This record gives sequence, structure tokens and C-alpha cells, in this order.
Amino acid sequence: MKLWGGRFTKETNQLVHNFNESLSFDQKFYKQDIQGSIAHVTMLAAVHILTDEERDLIIEGLNGICADIESGKLEFTREHEDIHSFVEAHLIERIGDTGKKLHTGRSRNDQVALDMKLYTRDEVQQINELLKELLEELHVIMKENLHTYMPGFTHLQKAQPVTLAHHVGAYFEMFKRDRSRLQDIYNRMNYSPIGSGALAGTTYPLDRELTASLLGFYGPTLNSMDSVSDRDYLIELLSALSTIMMHLSRFCEEIIIWNTNEYRFVEIDDSYSTGSSIMPQKKNPDIAELIRGKTGRVYGALVSMLTTMKGLPLAYNKDMQEDKEFTFDAIDTVKGCISLFTGMMKTMKFNKPVMEASAKNGFTNATDAADYLVNKGVPFRDAHGIVGQLVLFCIDKGIALDDMTLDEFKAISPVFEDDIYEAISMKTCVDKRMTLGAPGPDVMEKVIAFNEEYLKEN
Ligand code: ARG
Repeated sequence: MKLWGGRFTKETNQLVHNFNESLSFDQKFYKQDIQGSIAHVTMLAAVHILTDEERDLIIEGLNGICADIESGKLEFTREHEDIHSFVEAHLIERIGDTGKKLHTGRSRNDQVALDMKLYTRDEVQQINELLKELLEELHVIMKENLHTYMPGFTHLQKAQPVTLAHHVGAYFEMFKRDRSRLQDIYNRMNYSPIGSGALAGTTYPLDRELTASLLGFYGPTLNSMDSVSDRDYLIELLSALSTIMMHLSRFCEEIIIWNTNEYRFVEIDDSYSTGSSIMPQKKNPDIAELIRGKTGRVYGALVSMLTTMKGLPLAYNKDMQEDKEFTFDAIDTVKGCISLFTGMMKTMKFNKPVMEASAKNGFTNATDAADYLVNKGVPFRDAHGIVGQLVLFCIDKGIALDDMTLDEFKAISPVFEDDIYEAISMKTCVDKRMTLGAPGPDVMEKVIAFNEEYLKEN
């Protein structure tokens, strides 16, 4: 059944129907479409546009359709243009003429705006929960690794020693910001467009506040033309999803590096790795690579949405139907990636001795050796030069600073004493970094306590 056959004298060309239809993808929000219709007729009855009997009959019919879709009894057949036509046609088939009153004071333009909002609003909450599970896992890793030393890098060159807790803590902050972005989006988007009609409201005395509150919105939107053509919340969401993917992708990149034979900082669990069809020795980090790869796909959705919207005059234009497939795809992709990433982290082994040895062998304590000399009265620039000589000496011998004998230290500068070993131990180097946000275990404990509070409250 068509919702708009009256004005036409010819059948739609089949290719046009196929090109125009959206049922193949907007069926994804059948539940929200029905939920919105139930709220709409509840409001219509409250303002006496429908009788209570008509309302009840329509709601019963809609609930029946929902149940039959869920049980598989009712299939989405291709002759319907979209989910809205599909539901309305089946309603009329089931309850007769009363069903024809469902669409009173409503257009598919405000209806689809509502459905998409209801759908994405749920998804925002689900993604927020998945991020929380990830944060809980990172929190566990942080608590267990306050004293797991590893090199911190700049330019992917070993720089100064940090701890695994500190490194993972950086991602904790990123995902925390991601959650707060989702929260912001939720708060901004949570206003109801229904009752805006096609673009200019309706002549029926609809109670938009009531429909909005029945659907859990903070209130109704305030401009009907904007309401039917606003897709800002999708752009914001896709942007937030892109940022989540960017964070996951950076972490994956590090895990891929850490998992190499050369680094061996971590071992990805067998259950999260795959093999090669030809090289029997291989165990590949495919999951991390795929997450990194899928990042491009989510960015693509954001750019598509921005581009689709950029030339659209007010109000609704059919171009907007294009908002759905890539938004759905981006949402499903991000949800899958967060879940898999969390599982991979949960099962991954950290090779702690290798991490610590790598920090030592990479001269990450060179700054601390220079600071040691400064504390003994050597000007920093001279200390920098002296430690440079130590490093050259060690590179030549293939050893770490800690492996030098005191005589070797003294031969380069007589200022060195026996306490140099303690001063450049990984433990001292990390313990001394005690400004808030640094890897020192005392301040890290504080941060972990903040995080604990955060996880309880959010
Ligand atoms: N399938 C359409 C969409 O997704 C629903 C709105 C159709 N409105 C219209 N005037 N043709 O945007």
C-alpha cells in the first residue's frame, strides 16, 4: 500500500520504487516507529482528536504488529516503501478504518526524525555502557601495574621510564572524555521533533509536551522546520564515534607494535589471534588490525553525513534518507570494536620483565643521571654532556647505564659516587615523578582513587 497514491495516475516504475525505498534498512527501527506511534495516538486521545476506544484499538493493533515482527510471523516485504508505510498498512489490514486515523496530525518527516532520534538515543546509551566496561578493565590493569616499569616514548624512541599503569591511564582519560562527549550529545539531542508535521506544524491542537514526555524527552523542539531537517545530532554522534575509533586505533597500533617479536611487551591470547595459511609459525594480531582498519569506515560515515547535509535548503529533503545506512553501520562497527577490544585486553598477557628491561636498555634513566649530577652541583648543560658520554660508552659496550662499574662512571666524571645506582634505578626514576598526572605510584594511587569514584558515579 502507498501512503500517497491519490494524486497519481500511473504506477511507480519498479526501478524507481527500488531506488526510493528505505524499508530494507529503516526496518531496523521498527520498534521505535511503533513506540512513537503509540505515544502519538495516546496524545491524540488526550486532546480528544481520537476517542479512547480508537486509541486502544490502534495501540492493540500496533502491539500485535510488534509482537509478530519479533516472532518472525510478520516479514518485511518489498512492496512497502518504508517502515512507516509498512506499519500503517498492516495496522489498517488488522483493525480496519480506525487504523487510517493513526497518521492524523503527523507527517513521515517528523515521524522519521523521531524514529531516528529514539533509535540513536538508545544506541548512545549502549555505547556509553560498553565504554564503561572497557574502562573497568583498564582500571583493573592500572591497579595491578603501578610498579610495572616500561619505557615511555616520544617519536617512538624510548624517552623516560613510566609504568604500565600510567600508560594505560592515558587511554583511561581518553575513553572517559569519549563518554562525556556521548553524554553531551544525549543532553542536546533529547528533544522531541514529533508534532512538527511536514515542516510547518499542524492545524490540530496537538500537545507536543505530552508526546515528548511520554517518550522520555526533556521537552519538544521549538522550530518545526528545524525539527524535520535537523541531523546535527547524527553529525555530533558520528564525530564522537570517530574519536572513539581514533582512540581504539591508537591503542591497537601500540598493541600491534608491543606484540611483535622485536618488542614482546605483550602476548595477545590465542583466542584473539589468527594464523597464516602458509606460514605455520605465525600468530597475527588481526583483531587489533581490523579495529584500526575499521576506523576509516567510521570516519567515512561522518564525512558522508556532513557532505549530504551541506547543500540542503530547509526543510526536509529526500537526501536525508541517506543518513541511515552509514549511521547504523558506524554504530554497529563501534559497538563491535569496543567489545572485541575489551575482550582482547582482558585476555592479553603483559610481559613485565621484558618491559622493564627495555626501559633500562633504552637509557630512559639518562635524564635522571643528569639530574643526579645537578644535585651534586654540576651545571645542567655540563651534566647533559657528561651523561651523553656515558651513553656513548654504553652503546659501544652494549650495556645499560646501570651495568657500568663505579670506576667506569668515575673515569667520565669524578662526581659520581656509589649512590648513582640507586639514583638511576627504574624504581627511583618512577617514584620521583610525583607531580599529579605523573607515573609515580603515590600520585597514581590518587588518580586510581579518582577513577574509582568516577566509575561508581558514572
Ligand atoms: N524514508 C524517509 C527518510 O528516511 C522517510 C521520510 C519520507 N518523507 C517524505 N516526504 N518522502 O527520510
